[in-house]
Amino acid sequence: MAKVPRVIIIDPDRESAVELQKMLQLIGFEVLASAGYGVEAFTLALQLRPDLVLLRVEEPLVRPIQTLVKLNDGMPDLPIIVYSTEANIRLMRQSMVGGASDYLQEPLTEEELESSILRVLERKEREMARRRGELEDPVPQGTIVTVFGAKGGIGKTTIASNLAVALAMDAHQTVALVDMDTRFGDVAITMDIPVERSIADLARNLHNIDRVTLRDYLVEHESGVRILPAPTRPSDWRNLTAAHIRDVVDVLAQTHDFVVLDTPGTFNEIVAAAIEVGTIILLITTLDMASIKDTVLALEMLHERFGNDEERIKVILNRSGMDTGVREKDVERTLDSPLWWKIPQDPEVMKAGQLGRPIVMSRPNSKAAVEMREIARALAGIRNRNRAAKGSGLGRLIRPLFKRSA
Ligand SMILES: Nc1ncnc2c1ncn2[C@@H]1O[C@H](COP(=O)(O)OP(=O)(O)OP(=O)(O)O)[C@@H](O)[C@H]1O
Ligand SMILES: [Mg+2]
Repeated sequence: MAKVPRVIIIDPDRESAVELQKMLQLIGFEVLASAGYGVEAFTLALQLRPDLVLLRVEEPLVRPIQTLVKLNDGMPDLPIIVYSTEANIRLMRQSMVGGASDYLQEPLTEEELESSILRVLERKEREMARRRGELEDPVPQGTIVTVFGAKGGIGKTTIASNLAVALAMDAHQTVALVDMDTRFGDVAITMDIPVERSIADLARNLHNIDRVTLRDYLVEHESGVRILPAPTRPSDWRNLTAAHIRDVVDVLAQTHDFVVLDTPGTFNEIVAAAIEVGTIILLITTLDMASIKDTVLALEMLHERFGNDEERIKVILNRSGMDTGVREKDVERTLDSPLWWKIPQDPEVMKAGQLGRPIVMSRPNSKAAVEMREIARALAGIRNRNRAAKGSGLGRLIRPLFKRSA
């Protein structure tokens, strides 16, 4: 955004308007003026033509919402961010229906305000560019699930494979599973599929691939999941760059509802690219001290390099219930991050692994399979009323996810 965004504030509380003005100036926005509701607000917006309006909405809603609707009707391209001391659904809903671009609850922080304004303005810029025909037609984009962990042998491949299968079979999604394990690449063994072509071949030929020829590089598993295996020779990874990874995932995400990425227990530029492109990062940990210590470091690294986004980075405790001397209730405190899900220790997992059949297929009702199927359903946005209503530990864990989509 080249020029400094110009903002007007609509807030009948003068003191609050002055405070907000100071905050906006501090983070580098220009405040043109402030006004109360009604005619004053409308006239000011019409005269000054700001880039954005910040509007206070409080009970009773009639006047603020009337102002919001009028502004939106008269200047439909003018983004309006609503802020309020309240956070009730009725107020939010009325604001959204009235045309608000975002909703912030007080007390406002500088970071929150800045990121909201920038996001809203960027969206508007994209919209304007599209209208001018400067942007290509939008392409569909599936959800990319990156399964990551700081250590080897903690269940990343097990979870990636089973989630992929459960997304396909339980949640009826189209799914691609990509083996990005630059060291061992065992998705093909876990899923018992032959490897003829790998991610390295696809990356090499990407320039002449279309939706039909893409299928030739994927092995279709009996569950319906399409698998892109790792190269059988680890040296083939040498020619792959982060840009290849981005391109491959991009192509797959245009043709599948979900793309699940399995990664190795180390960090390198391929893994960094897999994390960067992930819509959601599932960070796997186990109960032993070494794994938790490494997970603390991994979280720090993720926050530093990719931002601290609780919606995007979800921690999963695998093999829970194992007797390791570490108490589960201490894990969240040590990680300083909530556990999104727990997958129990289950001897059936290993048996399924030896058979080359994911446990969600061979033993769909075993303890671990049930949880992995639930995770897949949650990722696909399918609500499980029974569990959430029971008030179980799991219900408590999954409810925050549904709160947003409800
Ligand atoms: N919930 C579980 N209960 C019992 N065993 C499990 C569970 N999850 C994984 N395992 C077992 O742990 C072992 C390691 O799992 P997996 O290969 O998925 O780990 P990984 O993190 O992908 O390892 P690597 O880093 O070597 O790729 C396997 O034998 C698997 O069967
Ligand atoms: Mg693995």
